Amino acid sequence: MTKRVAILISGGGSNMLKLVESMTGDHPARAVLVASNDPDAGGLARAKTLGIPIAAVDHRPFRKDRAAFEAALLTQLEAADPDIICLAGFMRVLTETFVRRWEGRMLNVHPSLLPKYKGLHTHVRALAAGDAEHGCTVHEVTPELDNGPILGQARVPVLEDDTPETLAARVLVEEHRLYPEVLKRFAAGDRRPIYFP
Ligand code: GAR
Repeated sequence: MTKRVAILISGGGSNMLKLVESMTGDHPARAVLVASNDPDAGGLARAKTLGIPIAAVDHRPFRKDRAAFEAALLTQLEAADPDIICLAGFMRVLTETFVRRWEGRMLNVHPSLLPKYKGLHTHVRALAAGDAEHGCTVHEVTPELDNGPILGQARVPVLEDDTPETLAARVLVEEHRLYPEVLKRFAAGDRRPIYFP
């Protein structure tokens, strides 16, 4: 049976677009919702033009009450009845209760070769460390931040004249290749990791 996928974003949603575009033909999944914690997220408008239902749950009125924010988000998600949730540039840390609700069914893309550089500013940190290579990871989401089982990784070389911006751009190209491939396999029940190149 076709899997239903909800995608959570906070920004431009370029990964979200690649995921949506990939779910056609014999792909085992289809996008049923794009939701954001930011009503102004550019990705929401882009999803709407593609005909994907959208939802915005602004986290700001909830201030530090993450549970209340997540309850509102959960209401939107449950209405869409997804089998799989893809975090794609979703920049809110989720509580253990929320993560457990979707355990084994929630994926994330992170811009580093995990377990290196969990959290933020991954490109700056890779450059500061003098790493020869960098990349991105798609993993299952577990309660500990950026720590779940790895489902795929793609590597890029770090060039001598790289800035955080040029490096981020090169990694993003790989995110766009890797995430759709991982989702396709995951939706078909295959959790063996993929490594690019
Ligand atoms: C991507 O690079 C993604 O890996 C990163 O945010 C960017 C979102 O871009 N996610 C994280 O840093 C999560 N910790 P997009 O909105 O264009 O897909």
